[in-house]
Amino acid sequence: MVQVTSMVDYENVDGVAVLTLDNPPVNALSQGVRQGLLEGVARAEADDTVKGVLIHCKGGTFIAGADITEFGSGPLEPDLRSVLVALDNAGKPIVAAIHGTALGGGLETALCCHYRVAVASAKLGLPEVNLGLLPGAGGTQRLPRVVGVEKALQMVTTGVPVSATEALEAGLVDRVIEGDLRTGALAFTREKIAQGGTLLRIRDREDKLQSAREHPEIFDQLRKAIARKTRGFLAPEYNIRCIEAAVKQPFDEGMKTESKLFKELMTGPQSAAQQYFFFAERQAGKIPDLPKDTVELPIARVGVIGSGTMGGGIAMNMVNVGIPVTIVEVKAEALERGLAVIRKNYENTARKGRISQADVEQRCALISGSLDLNELADCDLVIEAVFEDMAVKKDIFSRLDGIARPGAILASNTSALDINEIAAVTKRPESVIGLHFFSPANVMKLLEVVRGAKTSPEVIKTCMSLAKRIRKTAVLVGVCHGFVGNRILFYRQRQAEQLALEGAPPHQVDKVLYDFGFPMGAFQMSDLAGLDIGWNAKTSRGATVKDRLCEMDRRGQKTGAGFYDYDENRNPTPSPVAEELFAEFAAKAGISRREITDEEILERCVLPMINEGAKILDEGIAIRASDIDVVYVYGYGWPVHRGGPMHYANSLGLDKVLARLRHYHELTGDDFWKPSQYLVALAEKGDRFS
Ligand code: 3HC
Repeated sequence: MVQVTSMVDYENVDGVAVLTLDNPPVNALSQGVRQGLLEGVARAEADDTVKGVLIHCKGGTFIAGADITEFGSGPLEPDLRSVLVALDNAGKPIVAAIHGTALGGGLETALCCHYRVAVASAKLGLPEVNLGLLPGAGGTQRLPRVVGVEKALQMVTTGVPVSATEALEAGLVDRVIEGDLRTGALAFTREKIAQGGTLLRIRDREDKLQSAREHPEIFDQLRKAIARKTRGFLAPEYNIRCIEAAVKQPFDEGMKTESKLFKELMTGPQSAAQQYFFFAERQAGKIPDLPKDTVELPIARVGVIGSGTMGGGIAMNMVNVGIPVTIVEVKAEALERGLAVIRKNYENTARKGRISQADVEQRCALISGSLDLNELADCDLVIEAVFEDMAVKKDIFSRLDGIARPGAILASNTSALDINEIAAVTKRPESVIGLHFFSPANVMKLLEVVRGAKTSPEVIKTCMSLAKRIRKTAVLVGVCHGFVGNRILFYRQRQAEQLALEGAPPHQVDKVLYDFGFPMGAFQMSDLAGLDIGWNAKTSRGATVKDRLCEMDRRGQKTGAGFYDYDENRNPTPSPVAEELFAEFAAKAGISRREITDEEILERCVLPMINEGAKILDEGIAIRASDIDVVYVYGYGWPVHRGGPMHYANSLGLDKVLARLRHYHELTGDDFWKPSQYLVALAEKGDRFS
């Protein structure tokens, strides 16, 4: 065995040159890997005793892509494209042996091999679109030549990898290897050597392009189909253009188009934001003050209190990964309804073909319902998901304290209330934590994990890793009203309503937020959530527009009216009733109304979010700025191509953010606009949120 570089070994195994890559954790194509591949192939070509080459990786995965940490640090020779040309032009058969994931540049490397074999659990994909990029090393030109244009379009625009079985069917993999991969791949390589014949390069194949040449309309059909979902993002469109180039241009021209569009994306702000977010998401799982040897508690059974929308969604998360759940309700009808909704949700998913009917039955069988809190005695974690009323929550937690086994974790799904106050009614505040799921809880990726003053490190660690297990991204936050997400949202909401009072109709405010990239605006969001959250019919005095709307039974989408009017399909139209109410309240408050520009609306909705984010950092409620961004992208649909509010502030420049906050502070005299001291200090030093 020879070490070609510190990341690539070369071994001549009876005439097969085995190149073993070892670059933990994911065998990314760092400089040492590229250099090793280039030199390894050259060595194999020069050695007459070598008849074929096998590329194989150590560790948990095949190459998972280019090394993202190298992006932006200038080109380090050799560049990936020239390495791949060497593979493509080799005179001896090269086989890629794939396990784990072959992603991005990893799959592009495999596409420059003459053959690909994989273990059944492997996944292959071009996920560059998720980094605001496109495959820049020939992936867009080679993949359609192997799997066909439609499949390639689907893979590059969604970034979703395919399984080894799908890859085999599509011709992307030549054999699925049972048993030891290296042994099986070596045998496969020897077979190919024995077969002999001319080596077929993917770049020379044209057959799979033919159908798209005859039906060029498929490109526009796809554009239309994904328009809403990819609104505002450049990368999906650029990926489509590259595949179009593969169909319309000769291979070398197509490569030039790919290269040009790749560079455009790579130097643009969207990819910078999406690359930033890739690391932000991974950073969120790192808790600096958690001792390394903190023990994780076992979670084998979960209790959920409340079978409403949140409780049901939370239960589904658990049973989706095989954790049995007991749901406790107060009334039999409510419990029955809740369980029926869960079954209906699963049946809908099965109808769409995403799970089987057997999965539906298996998941429903893992859920048991009860009207007795005592049934939760053997649960390792109990999550309370009843309505937002401190007295009710305290009552539940004090009863639960007498029921749950010692050491069980007691969690509240509150979206705003004080976890410390809840913990104080128990004799085990160290076991109490907030687990704030976002609605719909079985869909939304975010979990805000709220640590109380006394929550133990074990409980924090267990909840962070449970989040991973149920495929959520967890962000650890501290206690304050609304935690990170809702606290910041209150500020945007307040400003949205102020804008409506000053003359911007709700639908204009919403359109500005939608065009910025949010899935919906502030008023649509309120209507969806229900305007009666925190509203009480008995005590309502019509003090706000919202109160008055609720009094008129316009309580949002569920009652067919709120800030908007809704048709039977819940399509909104601007409501004269709501607009008149804003005008009436403005007149009472002596506010003179005017036309407001879209620029002002955007600024006045977003700047307070940034300012509140800065205060949250100053108070230590969030560990780092990027955690706030993760909360916003995964919890509230902040467009990831803008990185999140804190990244967006950095991209605007904190000096500019500060100047605009000061402008509104002076203009209104309202301390709502007072810049956070933390932001002032950073901006004055010329610094950024980091
Ligand atoms: N470059 C550098 N570091 C990477 C990386 C990459 N391509 N992919 C993952 N890592 C790092 C992560 O940052 C993380 O580091 P940390 O432990 O210090 O936080 C570590 O590897 C492990 O990653 P995960 O926590 O994500 O581990 P998982 O096991 O959950 O997932 C994975 C593994 C599926 C490979 C996932 O990391 C992933 O999706 N990676 C990105 C894949 C990708 O986007 N590839 C395309 C890159 S762009 C490209 O190739 C351009 C080309 O066309 C020219």
